[in-house]
Amino acid sequence: MPRNPAVARTLPSLRRALDQLRARGRTVALVPTMGALHEGHLTLVRRARKRCDRVVVSVFVNPTQFAPHEDFSTYPRTWQADLAKLAAEKVDLVWNPGVGIMYPDGFATRISCEGPAVADLEDRFRPHFFGGVATVVGKLFIQCRPDVALFGEKDYQQLRVVTQMARDLDLGVKVTGVATVRERDGLAMSSRNVYLSPEQRAAAPTLHRALKDCAADIRAGRDLKTAVAKGAATIREAGFALDYFEARHAETLAPVNARDDGPIRLLVAAKIGTTRLIDNLGV
Ligand code: PAJ
Repeated sequence: MPRNPAVARTLPSLRRALDQLRARGRTVALVPTMGALHEGHLTLVRRARKRCDRVVVSVFVNPTQFAPHEDFSTYPRTWQADLAKLAAEKVDLVWNPGVGIMYPDGFATRISCEGPAVADLEDRFRPHFFGGVATVVGKLFIQCRPDVALFGEKDYQQLRVVTQMARDLDLGVKVTGVATVRERDGLAMSSRNVYLSPEQRAAAPTLHRALKDCAADIRAGRDLKTAVAKGAATIREAGFALDYFEARHAETLAPVNARDDGPIRLLVAAKIGTTRLIDNLGV
């Protein structure tokens, strides 16, 4: 069995461990996660290994990105299994702070983002979300000072928000996106997929199918609005309550009306039962 990676739970021990990892000019990659690790996360870890000499993974279920009615208390927490997976990937260090370390009593600062964070997509349905993500990711970047940080395209708007924040605040981190890892039937891997009943799980790949069909329609020169409306209808017919199905500019996330309006990203969010799923695809 591979040896468990070193685990830091306080800022002084994180600093000591990072100083050692960084000795002799070695480069460090950071993969921020909330645990409940699956192949999507592990793909980020493998990519990190290719990019840098040392790999740090943070495991922290961040309370500030959950609204009171959301699943913070029930979010899957699988620490022992996570650690075994990170050991198998030969991760050098796991940063696993408690809530009181990340947000000590009296904590009163929040990073507020504009641009891609106010694109009227996830932010419309989770107005608290990107403030919480930006604050914790900003802290993780400052705490770990990585050369590179890897984020999944699965959370496409989050990737754009973090990329913009790192650039705007001169955090000196190269943010890199990694393609979405999917189950065989196309469903994007997600820690929240464990919430799905067998019937819901069977319907869930509709999201990816609708995105793929819509992208193919647009590439074939069909009218963009018609193609998007068809995708939305397919998802509703499969039993989802649709939050949005939209074509946006892949970088700015601004609305687009035609194929020539830029590189296009299709983004979807929908609820099946009480579980909310998101996915996206480039055209
Ligand atoms: P979490 O949902 O645990 O995801 C951690 C990272 O894994 C994110 O960058 C996410 O985009 C990526 N990821 C998740 N599923 C993936 C998949 N199927 N394919 C590729 N990458 C995938 O996203 C968060 O945590 C949090 O918001 C965080 C950034 C850690 C801040 O708290």
